Amino acid sequence: MSGQVTLTTDANAPVAVIVIDNPPVNALGPEVVDGLSSAFDRAERDAAVRAIVVMGAGRTFIAGADIKELEQAAWGGGSGPPDIHDLLARIEDCPKPVIMALHGTPLGGGLELAMAGHYRVALKDTRMGQPEVNLGIIPGAEGTQRLTRLVGVEKAIDMCVSGKPIGAPEALAAGLVDRLINGDLREGAIVFARDVATGGIAHPKTRDRRDRLGTPESNAPIFAAGRDLARRTRRNMLAPLKVVDAIEAAATLPFPEGVRREKEIFFECLRSDQCKALVHAFFAERAVSKVPDVPKNTATTPVETVAIIGAGTMGGGIATACANAGLQVVLADVGREAVERGMAGIRRSYESSIKRGRLSKDEADRRIGLIREQVGYEGVASADLVIEAVFENLALKKEVFASLDTLAKPGCILATNTSTLDIDEIASMTKRPESVIGMHFFSPAHVMRLVEIVRGRATGVNVLATALALAKRLNKVGVAVRNGPGFVGNRMMFPYMYEAQFLVEDGATPEQVDRVLTEWGMAMGIFAVDDMGGLDVAWRVRQELHQFEEPGARKPVVADILVEMGRLGQKTGRGWYTYTEDRKPLPDPEVVALIERTAAAAGIARRPVGDEEIRERAIYALINEGARVLEDGIALRAADIDVIYLTGYGFPAYRGGPMFCADQIGLAKILDRVTAFHRDLGQRWAPAPLLARLAKEGSTFREYDAARDASAPA
Ligand code: 3HC
Ligand code: NAI
Repeated sequence: MSGQVTLTTDANAPVAVIVIDNPPVNALGPEVVDGLSSAFDRAERDAAVRAIVVMGAGRTFIAGADIKELEQAAWGGGSGPPDIHDLLARIEDCPKPVIMALHGTPLGGGLELAMAGHYRVALKDTRMGQPEVNLGIIPGAEGTQRLTRLVGVEKAIDMCVSGKPIGAPEALAAGLVDRLINGDLREGAIVFARDVATGGIAHPKTRDRRDRLGTPESNAPIFAAGRDLARRTRRNMLAPLKVVDAIEAAATLPFPEGVRREKEIFFECLRSDQCKALVHAFFAERAVSKVPDVPKNTATTPVETVAIIGAGTMGGGIATACANAGLQVVLADVGREAVERGMAGIRRSYESSIKRGRLSKDEADRRIGLIREQVGYEGVASADLVIEAVFENLALKKEVFASLDTLAKPGCILATNTSTLDIDEIASMTKRPESVIGMHFFSPAHVMRLVEIVRGRATGVNVLATALALAKRLNKVGVAVRNGPGFVGNRMMFPYMYEAQFLVEDGATPEQVDRVLTEWGMAMGIFAVDDMGGLDVAWRVRQELHQFEEPGARKPVVADILVEMGRLGQKTGRGWYTYTEDRKPLPDPEVVALIERTAAAAGIARRPVGDEEIRERAIYALINEGARVLEDGIALRAADIDVIYLTGYGFPAYRGGPMFCADQIGLAKILDRVTAFHRDLGQRWAPAPLLARLAKEGSTFREYDAARDASAPA
């Protein structure tokens, strides 16, 4: 036995209890597998033992195979996750009943191991599932075969395609769990074990069950619907479609053949670029909270009350996010009408959650009750942290911060939700620039997971640590970035967005560009994004950031005219598109005519623009600017940029983010195209020096990150 697995025997029962202890999440590494084998050897040999309970120490039962090992295998190194087929067989063939006692998050290989036991008991708040598709793979330890046998084809498809865990009560109803335990899991599992051990019954082997597998006739429409679900909800992804094949094998083939088929598909997916990208995204998201000069033990300010200044779109969303996390909120605006409008929006959003069955009315009322309306700034004095969300106007924000400085208590953190403006300028209006920070939420702020946390020149490390901790408490991903126009996300979006506009002036249409981008995997096309954010907002940013003022720069010619025409996007029902009442965008011939007229007047000879040119110009513009952002030190790592784009900009997770995707395409190829665009399209395409250097060295952004992480202070 290894130190990661211990076995004790409860003499009164007599039941052997095997405990897996491999923090933080009891991942199924080789030592755990060896330890389990030895523990089963002993428990089986011990004649006094009548039943065996397996459970996890700490926060969870096994949360899956060790993803580090999967990563190595995906990149062609290591031997991959340990082969646990023999272990599963010996558990299922064990002559003594095996009871898997579940708590926390039994996921992936953890649930697969649990399904090889004869029985499963669980604490009520356990969440279990097969999330492998989120890593670009399918369950590879017989999970597709056993889950289908336990819960039936339809539920297995649902769980494996979505990758979403289900709660213990649902698992009980589905047949995945045999009993819910109230109180102490170990005690409850031992009682259950004693009952089944003395019952004189044959203990069920999941692999022998066929009662829920259905018939070819009854299953045909279920598989068709499952594949349709995978195509619709996991667009362009390999694993969700493939997992349906593996479940089909469970329903149609004998168990050993089904297992063989699952294994083939598992390795096919493991070798895919999508797996590499999704595993990269998994670790990148967890690495962002590690900022080299902010050690783990950095003191943070306790935050219980948050004041939000500006009850508009963002203020309302941020207030909702804070109330959802149980914080006290003061929602302030200049006039009663504005505050009431903000509160009405918040109530509407909670009502819609109640209607969709996501929240009870009582819970919604409790959360709304945490938000206090405030006309003027008085409530600010009680706040531990203030988030300013007034109009995107530097002069106004400076004025607001000067007032906040006089009202907020000492030690209160002053955050701004600006999406582009200079944090240092804003901080300069206060006598406490060390307490000023950017917390750039994304719209809708109670839904979107990203918060760019912007450090000003003077921002204190404890203030940064507090902002990161608050993001986590709001269930969001906080990414620390440095100050600079547009920070990371929006700075990169500008060249991407403007290149899209140049493409339509050159001969494409907004609809074509958006189609190409969404087919490539972006959640939304960039023109649809612009319409959603508001064309007036983008116009204001152009003014505030003095974009296109350098001589000779190509300036987009259509966007400003749309603003002059009052076509501000979704809010006016018309922008690049015309919107139906249910906000469906329709291509508008008037816009195409305007583009043709304006381009002609600007001397642009329109020509057919192919899909490949759209893909390259849009995506490479994003990547080239990403390389500059990285070199300027605005982002700490290429992987941080990836997380920003994955969680805030609808970049497809299976491409790993723009910088990871650049590595996959090949930096030499990208440099080659960027250099050609520079020659043909002008100065805006000057290759980023970092991109040029890495491409010439045959290196990657991933290697650049690894070198920087290695040289960072521990
Ligand atoms: N392998 C290796 N490390 C893991 C891991 C795993 N399966 N799951 C979590 N970790 C690590 C994280 O990287 C993190 O490390 P860090 O502190 O050094 O950054 C630490 O555990 C804590 O993770 P979180 O910050 O995510 O903690 P949370 O409490 O928020 O979430 C969790 C816990 C729900 C278990 C979440 O980590 C999670 O979803 N993990 C992935 C689960 C998963 O996908 N399992 C399937 C793996 S694939 C598989 O099993 C293949 C099989 O079919 C053969
Ligand atoms: P909005 O126009 O919906 O709301 C602004 C609110 O601020 C209004 O209710 C207004 O009455 C209030 N306000 C104006 N002056 C004020 C003052 N002196 N004191 C108190 N309240 C005042 O604007 P929105 O969209 O919510 O944007 C707010 C901030 O969030 C801006 O800095 C914007 O750049 C940023 N942001 C906006 C995003 C979006 O998608 N809308 C996304 C991310 C950031």
